[in-house]
Amino acid sequence: MPAFTTSGPDSTRIAPSILSADFSRLGEEVRNVVAAGADWIHFDVMDNHYVPNLTIGPMVCEAIRPHVNVPIDVHLMVEPVDALIPLFAKAGADIITFHPEASRHVDRTLGLIRDQGCQAGLVFNPATPLDWMDYVMDKLDLVLLMSVNPGFGGQSFLPSALDKLRHARTKIERYRADTGREILLEVDGGVKVDNIAAIRAAGADTFVAGSAIFGKPDYAAVIKEMRAQIAGAGTARA
Ligand code: DX5
Ligand code: ZN
Repeated sequence: MPAFTTSGPDSTRIAPSILSADFSRLGEEVRNVVAAGADWIHFDVMDNHYVPNLTIGPMVCEAIRPHVNVPIDVHLMVEPVDALIPLFAKAGADIITFHPEASRHVDRTLGLIRDQGCQAGLVFNPATPLDWMDYVMDKLDLVLLMSVNPGFGGQSFLPSALDKLRHARTKIERYRADTGREILLEVDGGVKVDNIAAIRAAGADTFVAGSAIFGKPDYAAVIKEMRAQIAGAGTARA
């Protein structure tokens, strides 16, 4: 399975969401954001069923794949989930995450993602309890906490996500102490330069940002400032 580069437990990643990119020139947009320092490309898939919006599918993933050499982080906001997994794996996805409420058999869906050679993660809506992860920790490469309700870019960060991040970080650290295996903790929704330090301090190590990056004229300046804020934050890691 293609490993994402985590250079140890204290490494962090910035994953710009192309939801806020200019879709008429997506190849150029992803090249520019990677040149500006993005670690991953976050790819939001919405189906007008699980969420009230409709975006992009495997063909668009395949189209941008040759433009970048960083991991493509596919966030499936779709129901049902399973049929799309092989299509995204074939289209060049490295990481595939889904919402547990959208799959009948969460353990099986996680297995399917890994069987396709991708890394697997669960996504938690603001009101979704973290208990969903408890019995599938061994099948998780990352956990993604939504800090907005999924469906749209440009929403405000929900402060309740900070407490939830601390809770998820505690579970992940306990699992690491038991097994030595790392699970990444990603956050998605309303992440900005002015709140990213608090989000880092609460335990996130991977930061999705759409409108904060693609909405701005200088991607490199935003990413640089985000990294400076992250570096200056304490972390919830014990
Ligand atoms: C929301 C998406 C997010 C979104 C984030 O459903 O999953 O990835 O693009 O956008 P911002 O950073 O603008 O909140
Ligand atoms: Zn997303």
